[in-house]
Amino acid sequence: MTVAYEVRETNGAEARFVWDYGATDERLRALYERGKTAQWNAAVDIAWDAGVGVPGQADPAGARSPFGWSASCPVPREEWGAFQWEFHSWMTSQFLHGEQGALLATSRLVTMAPDLDTKMFAASQVTDEARHVEAYARYVDLLGNSYAVNPSLKRMLDTVVAESRWDIVFLGMQIIVEGLALAAFRFEHTRSFDPVIAQLTQLVARDEARHVAFGLLALQEIYGELTSHERADREEFVKEAALLMSRRFRLEEVWARLDVDVAAGTNYALQDQKMIDFRRLMFTKIVTSLAKVGLLTAGVRTHLEQLELLRTLPPRGRAL
Ligand SMILES: [Fe+2]
Ligand SMILES: [Fe+2]
Repeated sequence: MTVAYEVRETNGAEARFVWDYGATDERLRALYERGKTAQWNAAVDIAWDAGVGVPGQADPAGARSPFGWSASCPVPREEWGAFQWEFHSWMTSQFLHGEQGALLATSRLVTMAPDLDTKMFAASQVTDEARHVEAYARYVDLLGNSYAVNPSLKRMLDTVVAESRWDIVFLGMQIIVEGLALAAFRFEHTRSFDPVIAQLTQLVARDEARHVAFGLLALQEIYGELTSHERADREEFVKEAALLMSRRFRLEEVWARLDVDVAAGTNYALQDQKMIDFRRLMFTKIVTSLAKVGLLTAGVRTHLEQLELLRTLPPRGRAL
């Protein structure tokens, strides 16, 4: 078997042993318990042969995009069906790549986290992420139409898996990447044009909600005690991450696959109100999570406004 892989150097993160096995954080331990009882099996708990990706006869006409066609779209109306198929294939491919990032990042958290409860929950999350990779890989394979990892998502994942400060691994993965994934999975579930992706995203979203809750629990505590310099560092990280995560929705690879002028397609993605609304929807969970950990500061809020990622503005003066 030939295995293609890519090596990323990490920045010398420390492995931490914890010798006090008695001290527990009850909230983290309860989340860990929930994680143990909420396991499911991607091989048998999904009705794999019910959707648009029936083996050997995938149905591109069955795909729907989360936004409608607009007159300014560089894809002609009669080819919108082809766009929807490519968008769906691209989106689910990025879910898959993001899940692999989560698998790698979470395994690092087991090693890096400074307390046992965090290590144990992170370990249960590693199992969840392996299942998510399994499920999305199978789904994308059934579609028979896949995309490589988007360059902006790749940069984000590279940053997270190389980071040596464990709280920034948390912030990048549990709050930003998983927050976007949670909004996307819930949205995919409610659209449910394909029973397989509806069922898959519902099961995955349940796990992701636990993972985001884990990130919030871990960060709320320590982010109350940051120095102004440390806080500024985290703010800069959030700004860069938001830029990368919104850039992935320029859809360059989709326009290229459809033989549409990439500059025209990117411009459309940036300007079209339906696509702006879609990106805002994708960022809703990230924004509320940032507010909860005290990182929706005036500077971060202004940055998100400039990127047109804020859907509703939380009252000013909160969580600064
Ligand atoms: Fe996941
Ligand atoms: Fe996750």
